Amino acid sequence: MRIAVFSAKPYDRTFLTRANAAERHSISFFDARLTVDTAPLAKGFDGVCAFVNDNLEAAVLHQLHGHGTTLVALRSAGFNHVDLAAAERLGMTVVRVPAYSPHAVAEHAVALLLSLNRLTYRAYNRVREGNFALDGLLGFDLYGKTVGVIGTGHIGLIFADIMHGFGCQIVASDPFPSPDAKSFVEYVPLETLYAQADIISLHCPLTSDTDHLIDAHAIAQMKPGVMLINTGRGRVVDTQAVIAGLKSGKIGRLGLDVYEEEEQLFFEDLSQGVIDDDQFMRLTTFHNVLITGHQAFFTAEALTNIAETTLANIDAFDRGEGTMHRVVNATLD
Ligand code: NAI
Repeated sequence: MRIAVFSAKPYDRTFLTRANAAERHSISFFDARLTVDTAPLAKGFDGVCAFVNDNLEAAVLHQLHGHGTTLVALRSAGFNHVDLAAAERLGMTVVRVPAYSPHAVAEHAVALLLSLNRLTYRAYNRVREGNFALDGLLGFDLYGKTVGVIGTGHIGLIFADIMHGFGCQIVASDPFPSPDAKSFVEYVPLETLYAQADIISLHCPLTSDTDHLIDAHAIAQMKPGVMLINTGRGRVVDTQAVIAGLKSGKIGRLGLDVYEEEEQLFFEDLSQGVIDDDQFMRLTTFHNVLITGHQAFFTAEALTNIAETTLANIDAFDRGEGTMHRVVNATLD
């Protein structure tokens, strides 16, 4: 099959080329993000391969379909950026990588949490400048604290396991409690989680139910000084509400790997320009906010899994086999 890879970074080229070593498919890499303007690049390709900030709304899918493209192979687990109803109407198949390395994301959430707690990002700069003062670096013991996990799927359960290892109590919220959850994971109503948790970590997908789940009303129910970590999807958090929470001190520490307007920012080097997202820039002014640019997935193991599963999905589609990881209008094969 001829596959057009959008939002292709050097690491995508490396790992996808390696997974396609037998050259079963002809893969072309495009730096451009897939949008209504760049969709014509896919002319003549049987499939497009897209990442989280590519736009797969109906207008883009119509263009792709008009070019004869029949397969959308997502290099991500999340599929909130695809208009699945439109894909279905057009008879296009959408496949994804369901769980490429839940450990990578869970471990990154813990990395944000630990850095925020002990302020290692501030300590790093201080020591380099010969400033060995400890004021402003006060952390707290994780042992005995209560951690709230919202979304106990692949990633949330691994995160819960790690935090239990630190001696934390785990409270969780999920409309579908997992049969794989260990006995120490206590499912509670969301309000109880907000009221009890010293740290809250978001591991749910972006859906109409979770869009701005963390809004002013939710924040008002949380403990004063709560630590909030989001490695899920940016729009699960209402950024304005979180900024208000930081200003009032209600939110004591904030760790983000995702941001609701990240399409305009993340994965690109914008250091030579001016960033005109005032809300994002406001976030970066807080000393108790740590932001990474959607890198939680970024480990060698995860990139290998993404590339291999993507190629296996394309193979299965090509051969008409049912083994691909298909996404069908909000339900998964
Ligand atoms: P998963 O599908 O295994 O688990 C998601 C869980 O969230 C499910 O148990 C589901 O029932 C639950 N859920 C759904 N609606 C909910 C709600 N309203 N409240 C609480 N829980 C709810 O997904 P997985 O693999 O654990 O990934 C979770 C999310 O992490 C993905 O949807 C994606 O948005 C994000 N992600 C972020 C990455 C990054 O690099 N930052 C990389 C990979 C995934």
